[in-house]
Amino acid sequence: MRSVGRAMVPVIRLGAIRRISGTERLETQVWEYSHPLWPAASDGFSVLFVSDIHYGKLLSHDQFDRMTGAIAALDSDCVLLGGDFGEDAEDSPKCIGLLAPILRGRRVIAVPGNHDLCGAVSRDALEAAVRDAGWEMPVNRCVPLTGGAALAGLDDFREGTPDAEAVRLEAQDASFVLFLCHNPDALADIVPPFYHLALCGHTHGGQVTVFGRPVFSSSVYRGRYLTGWKRENGADILIGNGIGTSLLPVRLGATPQIIKIVFRRGSAGRKLAESAVYGPGGKKQIVGGDNADDCRRG
Ligand SMILES: [Fe+2]
Repeated sequence: MRSVGRAMVPVIRLGAIRRISGTERLETQVWEYSHPLWPAASDGFSVLFVSDIHYGKLLSHDQFDRMTGAIAALDSDCVLLGGDFGEDAEDSPKCIGLLAPILRGRRVIAVPGNHDLCGAVSRDALEAAVRDAGWEMPVNRCVPLTGGAALAGLDDFREGTPDAEAVRLEAQDASFVLFLCHNPDALADIVPPFYHLALCGHTHGGQVTVFGRPVFSSSVYRGRYLTGWKRENGADILIGNGIGTSLLPVRLGATPQIIKIVFRRGSAGRKLAESAVYGPGGKKQIVGGDNADDCRRG
């Protein structure tokens, strides 16, 4: 399947096909997220969540440039990278090397995805690239985020050695736990959750969907963790569509996404404050304002 995908690249990049391909769009979302346990002194703290870049032969220069342009345009206190930097473990350190100067001066926290850990290159190469970039990669552990809030990171569910109970122990003193976890399938077994909000990727929003259902699913739970906001066992989950593609350079009904979250201390709820779509011509269409989604829980 992977060789078929690579062979399709020149065809997909032809003008007319490129214009209708979902890979050539990028949606940015800015969410206001409020929670009663978020530290009051860190009201307004923000993170930018980017995952599943899949740098390699399936990712065009335009896709990469569109992503880096959006990252540069969206300031934040911290950048969270949710894994699958490369198409395989050889491409992942290359992607990190390209992103490092673009993200210089910003705090960056990353976790590995399954594509970062499969192939001939060892985990050492990934860790060295992260270290050289000056980023943090908390695997099965927590790091302070802001105020009393912690950022918890998990190893990849499929190719790594996730240890959620070790994370739970480290997270117990934090007032709020933001969980960075590549594959949302890991969440199903973390009961009760030690986190308040989990940010995940991996599913690519289904990548190719028909009537909202994925043609192929990378999740054992199929539609349960497909995309967007969920709430399970009293905790919030946000699954982003990611940037690139795996196996085939095609997206349908699963627009690439970069998501910014602005945290507020307050009653539990969220509101889509702004949304924009970058197209093949670089056009930016603002969708926010009157179309904003507001969800407030009791
Ligand atoms: Fe992925």
